[in-house]
Amino acid sequence: MVLEIVPGEAPLWRYWGPKLPEGALPPAPLRDGRTAAPFSLEFDQPLSLFPTFGIGTFGESALLAHRDGRDFAQAFTDTGVRWLEPEQAVAITLTDPVAQLTVEISLSLDPMSDVLTLSSRLTNDGPGVLDVQWLASGVTPLPGSAERVMFPSGRHANEFIACETGLGRAGWRRENRRGLTSHDAFPGAVATLPGATAHGGVAYGAQLAWSGNHLQSIQWLDDAGYQWMAGAWLAPGEVRLATGESLSSPELLATVSEEGWNGVAQNFHAAIRRRMSWPGGSMTPRPVHLNTWEGVYFDHDLAEMQALATTAAELGVERFVLDDGWFHRRTDDCRALGDWHPDADKYPDGLAPLASHVTALGMEFGLWVEPEMINEDSDLFRAHPDWALQIAGRPLLTGRNQLVLDMGRREVGDHLFDALSRLLSTLPIGYLKWDHNRDLTTAGGADGVARYRSQVLGTYALLDRIREAFPQVEIEACAGGGGRIDAGILNRTHRVWTSDCIDARSRVAIQRGFLQFMPPEIMGAHVGAFTAHSTGRSQALAFRAGVAAPGHFGLELNAKILAPAEKAELAQWIALHKAWRGRLHSGRVWLGDAGDSLPWQAHGEADALLLFLYRIEPSTLRRPPTLRLPMLDRGRVYRVLRVDPPDPHGHPMLSAPALDAMRADGLEVHGAWLAEVGLPIPPMQAETSAVFSVTAL
Ligand code: DGJ
Repeated sequence: MVLEIVPGEAPLWRYWGPKLPEGALPPAPLRDGRTAAPFSLEFDQPLSLFPTFGIGTFGESALLAHRDGRDFAQAFTDTGVRWLEPEQAVAITLTDPVAQLTVEISLSLDPMSDVLTLSSRLTNDGPGVLDVQWLASGVTPLPGSAERVMFPSGRHANEFIACETGLGRAGWRRENRRGLTSHDAFPGAVATLPGATAHGGVAYGAQLAWSGNHLQSIQWLDDAGYQWMAGAWLAPGEVRLATGESLSSPELLATVSEEGWNGVAQNFHAAIRRRMSWPGGSMTPRPVHLNTWEGVYFDHDLAEMQALATTAAELGVERFVLDDGWFHRRTDDCRALGDWHPDADKYPDGLAPLASHVTALGMEFGLWVEPEMINEDSDLFRAHPDWALQIAGRPLLTGRNQLVLDMGRREVGDHLFDALSRLLSTLPIGYLKWDHNRDLTTAGGADGVARYRSQVLGTYALLDRIREAFPQVEIEACAGGGGRIDAGILNRTHRVWTSDCIDARSRVAIQRGFLQFMPPEIMGAHVGAFTAHSTGRSQALAFRAGVAAPGHFGLELNAKILAPAEKAELAQWIALHKAWRGRLHSGRVWLGDAGDSLPWQAHGEADALLLFLYRIEPSTLRRPPTLRLPMLDRGRVYRVLRVDPPDPHGHPMLSAPALDAMRADGLEVHGAWLAEVGLPIPPMQAETSAVFSVTAL
């Protein structure tokens, strides 16, 4: 990236793109190469690091603010540059002496991930309250040749679906006002230049580290380029800065790669890995889960739960997570949120008998909570009806029958900290599944002012407090599945529940959308029941397991009722996952498509990969296509082994000697051959998977 510092104005963007060689700097100041344009201002204002409205910039502003209607136009004319780390991290201070504002912009380029982190901090230096409507986290240029933008969208139980649209002069814009990250508008996107593919060509990516409302836009500028901007979306009146007060934006992570959208994904994975904060300082092998939700829902019984835990341990499960339904009067999803103590009918002696049973089996005990929520039918609401977000005179709008606590209130945070601390300090809990099952509406505080931003900050503060008091506890971020997955929540959590859809076929697309931005080790991925509860479709165990295997693996079914053969097969998959999770959860990820309804993904490094192949629809070809693996080293020979357990119920498929070899000692193939011609792949029925190890000799 190259910025030009110009006296009297904000730094100008000169370059943000693939790496240039050392010393490749612009030959002359930007304006030396720009002629005057007819019918334009004499003052030429190219894209700056912090474009502002009203004084010569006609694109989208990085700031929208005023003081009682005045100071609506801003120009930052003084620039201070403070290097925090030479050539890597810099703080640029911009001052507008007329509107009396200061903005500090932080830019930090991580050479390990090639991710640039941007953020901004606005201070009101003048008299009177500054009403802030918008503060961008960062603004970057995008070449005018950019032609497509890919962004995840969807809904509950079908989130992270990759959508693509062409870029043109109307630009592109996504806004989220649901109060949390949302199922439908993940705060990130990938924009590509012509010719970019999954594996090559120039691709740019950006994602916001924020778990609330947001805005992202790519806007065409009239000098043949785009500006890309993102930040937290602010509700009217939500941020009003008194003299001397500041507003800090969330961080924006931006990257560029010459290796297509897989390159962008790999950069993001590296950056997220470096941002995560693990108990003990580093990630331990991701324990295999059993999560009780789809196996039992609200139907809890101590003896049955203990039996389920025993079965889970026999299969190789390492963490048993007791989901919703365990607490006082929680018989369905209409009541009890807020009353975080065990239900006396279901657990007469509390949760200790179950937790100690689980830990005695050598598993970790995890517990589901939904701290930010409250049901009207709860002791907490009866005691503190005013703690729920609401607007006087407006109805309390429920979602999944529940209301939302005002997390910006100190007494709410204190109460939740005490309630969670009581559980964490009296039970051997190693893991919390932290849920959030509705969007925010009528999100006003007692003063009638919008509380969206303080809601996110209040939740972050509570998470931070819990992490500090119980540093050994890992936390999963869940919001009806993938409604709160972003780089902000991941600063303080360790796993996400990717989606409430466990249908393996749907999961292939959901997980691919997810992996474009987030690494696989935090991607909660479970083997569900034969018939998926969310879709009604049924799939063989081998397919369900093959799709879940690359992520943070787990089970979500009543394992007790499986037939012995199914248990044996599941145990084999758990063992397979354990054998390979080191590679799966530390390496790079390549997503590819062999055509003919055969998406694939490879995990690891170019000398040692685990390759997953998924056949979605029946083939339209007499023989399957070969699978090209462009990332392999063209100077080495590889051994390819098929490692997934044979599907005992699968229809027998035709084989051939090379395919048999992959099931035996392995097939040796040259890397260049695999890259250019491809691997022979077996014929597969629809909704089946195949897993191979590809290792350089
Ligand atoms: C939504 C989550 O996504 C599910 O996994 C489960 O925890 C339910 N909430 C429980 O109410």
